[in-house]
This record gives sequence, structure tokens and C-alpha cells, in this order.
Amino acid sequence: MVAVGVAGVALLWPLLAALVPGCASDLVTPVQEQVKPESSLLRPKVMIAIVARNAAHSLPYYLGCIDRLDYPKERIAIWAATDHNVDNTTAMLREWLKSAQHVYHYVEWRPMEEPRSYTDEWGPKHWPPSRFNHLMKLRQAALKAARERWADYILFVDSDNLLTNPRVLKLMMAENLTLVAPMLESRSLYSNFWCGITPQGYYKRTPDYQPIREWKRLGCFPVPMVHSTFLLDLRRESSRDLAFYPPHPDYSWAFDDIMVFAFSARQAGVQMYVCNREHYGFLPVPLKAQQSVEDESENFIHTITEALIDHDIEPSGHLYLSPSLQDTMGFDEIFLINLKRRLDRRTRMLKTMTSLGLQPTLTNAVDGKALNTSQLQALGIEMMPGYKDPYSGRVLTRGEIGCFLSHHSIWTQVIERSLQKILILEDDVRFEPRFKRRLQAIMDDISRTQLNWDLMYLPPPTPKKIETPSTSNIYRMK
Ligand SMILES: *[C@@H]1O[C@H](CO)[C@@H](O)[C@H](O)[C@H]1NC(C)=O
Ligand SMILES: *[C@@H]1O[C@H](CO)[C@@H](O)[C@H](O)[C@H]1NC(C)=O
Ligand SMILES: *[C@@H]1O[C@H](CO)[C@@H](O)[C@H](O)[C@H]1NC(C)=O
Repeated sequence: MVAVGVAGVALLWPLLAALVPGCASDLVTPVQEQVKPESSLLRPKVMIAIVARNAAHSLPYYLGCIDRLDYPKERIAIWAATDHNVDNTTAMLREWLKSAQHVYHYVEWRPMEEPRSYTDEWGPKHWPPSRFNHLMKLRQAALKAARERWADYILFVDSDNLLTNPRVLKLMMAENLTLVAPMLESRSLYSNFWCGITPQGYYKRTPDYQPIREWKRLGCFPVPMVHSTFLLDLRRESSRDLAFYPPHPDYSWAFDDIMVFAFSARQAGVQMYVCNREHYGFLPVPLKAQQSVEDESENFIHTITEALIDHDIEPSGHLYLSPSLQDTMGFDEIFLINLKRRLDRRTRMLKTMTSLGLQPTLTNAVDGKALNTSQLQALGIEMMPGYKDPYSGRVLTRGEIGCFLSHHSIWTQVIERSLQKILILEDDVRFEPRFKRRLQAIMDDISRTQLNWDLMYLPPPTPKKIETPSTSNIYRMK
């Protein structure tokens, strides 16, 4: 009995050795596996704080820019609040959150449907103390939520700031600063930073401002104020002392959320920075207290049309957009001249005109560069002897001849179709703010004064004084 038992145990050893992985024995040879390299780190966790009020006009493009941020969405949380709206902001933001929430780490939603305005405000663009107070509490709540969730960063982006550079989040993180703002551009010198501050905490223009704002000096610059869009690194110890609300006990400046926060940064020893190494986005010039939501919407359309010049931005695909209202402003046609091979310009102009609410008729331009001398002769085109362009002092280029032929084909249509009044736009125009309203005012003036006109020219500001023919019914609008 004993002998049998011993023999059994002895037989089991090699079997056990083979079953235990990683244990070398004479009977099994371990596989020489390649050592795997360590994987890269996950991206830091970011909370994006959205506080929107009466932003129905800006939300589609604003959220479109958030959608296109080049950053893993599962590392982003959204904190969104809205209040005191007279427009459709709540429904739109809710729709976006519902549709987009599954791609983000999580979303937090704080809508407030009532009341629709503050009792002490003159209008939706006025900032009474109650409004500052509410906004500061909201921003503080976002900051608190980000800290409680152990977010690494919080990004504040005002609901009308367009982050057209999708890499903005990665670029700002790479600066390795506690509190940093990507410089945003507007149609004026206005931006989201100050270079100087008065002893009372107000804005002060200093010689440093313009060279930074106009990209004459590039880099990240310590400044006393950033606002509207900025990134805060919550992993920095000093960030723990920052607050929007309540204001610091020593605070004596005006009751304004950006001033309160700048003061808090100062007290916490956190330096604010603004960066302009690249172009990051746009923001509208703020309106005056007595202006309306409609004025704001018109102002924002100009921000969109400016952003479209160099950026292919789109409204968020998560929002249902009612078909935009486009008309021809009482013209028989609004002709848009575009060279077929310039798809970029066509795309921009069509998007721009949709934003402006103008209904264009696309017209293929004649490609002057593709025309040769014999074709020009066949068309019966000859240069007037001694003709010189008043701007450049030279004869017409092929491109200009093509442009002329494009206009000529429209004039032919006008005659054939007996059109009375048309507007012609080339595809490289840049629209002034309130273009539609201003053009309407001109047309109203014309009909009121019963001006006898054939051609109305809406030129850009001229570099030189140009003789305008005074004998015909040709007018140059100022
Ligand atoms: C408000 O927005 C929602 C969600 O985008 C939309 O379904 C609704 O038609 C909008 N209402 C108005 C009056 O624009
Ligand atoms: C970021 O800054 C911290 C301290 O300011 C420094 O310790 C760290 O090395 C920096 N990281 C990089 C990647 O430069
Ligand atoms: C001009 O272009 C036409 C059409 O492309 C071509 O048939 C013709 O041969 C060209 N003439 C000259 C002189 O190059």
C-alpha cells in the first residue's frame, strides 16, 4: 500500500509543473514572449462648462465647434446650465445634450425655465447685479462639480465663442499653465484678455495690447485678465483657492464675474496667460445694455461670416435646424458669380449667404485663364485703345476679362428675361456687419427719393480717389 502511494505522488510532480504557468521544469520550455511596451497615458479629464442665456442664435455654430474638438469625447464631461431665457435656448441645449450625451463621459444639466428675465434688468443685454450674482454662482457650481468629479481641467467657453481651431484644447494643455486663454479675434480690437487693469479693476489699454492682438508678438503672455474662454488646470495646488463666488473677502471692485475671478486669481497667486501662437477662434463684440436679442443675433451672424472666411465651420449635427429663411430682398435675382474650379469659395459663399438669409442664384463664371487669343477674337473682344485700369494703371488681365464676360452673361439674362432689379455678388466678397439691413436702408432711400439709377456700386473703401463717371446713372454708395 505505502509503496503504491509513493509511486503515485512521484508521477504527479511533472504534471503539476506543466500545469502551473511560468514555472520552469525539465519537461516544459517557457515561451520567450516579447516584452510589450507600456501603453501611452489616457488624455487628461476635462469638464467643459457651458452657461447659456438667450443663445438660440449662437448655439448651432457654438455647439458645432464643441462637437469638432479634436479630443477624445470619453475624456470630456459637459456641465451645462441655462436660465432667464426669452428664446428657445433651453429646448436647443436639451436636444443637443440628449443627442450627444452618449459620446461624452457624462453630462450634467441645470436648466431653469422660469423666470424668463431678471426683475431689475432693462433688457436681455443689461447686466444688473442680480444677473452677475446668478452667473457667478453658476460658474462656481461648475467649478465645484469639476473638482468633485476629479476633472484634471475645466474649460469655460461662453456660449457665443466659436472655437474654430479643433486642436485648441490640446494646444492649451500643452502650454502647461494653470490658467490660460486662447486669444480669440473679433471684427474690432476686442478680445478675451486685457493687458492692463486700473487700480479699481477696470480695463486699461496699454501699448502691449495691440501687438499681441494683431499677432505681431507671438507666444503666451502673462496678463491681468482673461475671460470668456479659458482653461484651468485643476491639478495645480494654487487652483484650489480660485473662486467665482462668493467674492474674496478683500474684494472691493465692481460686482462683475470676470473682475471677481481675476481678483481671486491674483489673491491665489495664479498668473493668467493669453496665447496667440495660432488662431483659435472668434467672439462677437459685446453689445450695449439697451440692445436687443435681435441685434445680438445680427451681430453674431457677422461673427459667423468672418469665421467662414478661413474656417469650414458647420452648425452641430445634433441639432435639428429649421430651414433658414432666405429671400432675395426684393431683387428679381441675387446672382452669385463663382468659378467652377473654386469650390472653396462657392462653399463659403453659400454658407455665408445662408447665414445672412440671402437666396443666391449660382452663376458659373467664365474662366479667363482658360481663354486663348483666338477664342477672344471669335467672341469679338478687343481692348479699348489706351485703356488702363484706374486702380493699377495696367491693361486687363485674362482673369479680369473672364470676370467681365461673367457679368456680361448676366446682363444678357437680364435682357432676355426682362429682369428689373438684380444684385450681383462675386464669390470673394466679405460682408460688412449688418449687411442686409444696410442694403435694405439704401434700397428704401432710393425708392423714397425716386432716384433714377441704372447701376449702384457697393465698393470696399477705396485706397485711391477714383473718378466716377458723373454723366450717367451710375452711383457709388458710401
Ligand atoms: C426649439 O428648439 C427645439 C429643439 O431644437 C425644436 O424642436 C423646436 O422646434 C424649437 N422651437 C422653435 C419655436 O424654434
Ligand atoms: C509642467 O510644469 C510643472 C511645474 O510648473 C513641471 O514640473 C512639469 O515638468 C511641466 N511639464 C512639462 C511637460 O513641461
Ligand atoms: C484655343 O482654344 C481652343 C479651345 O480649347 C482650341 O480649339 C484652339 O486650338 C486654341 N487656339 C490656340 C491658338 O491655341
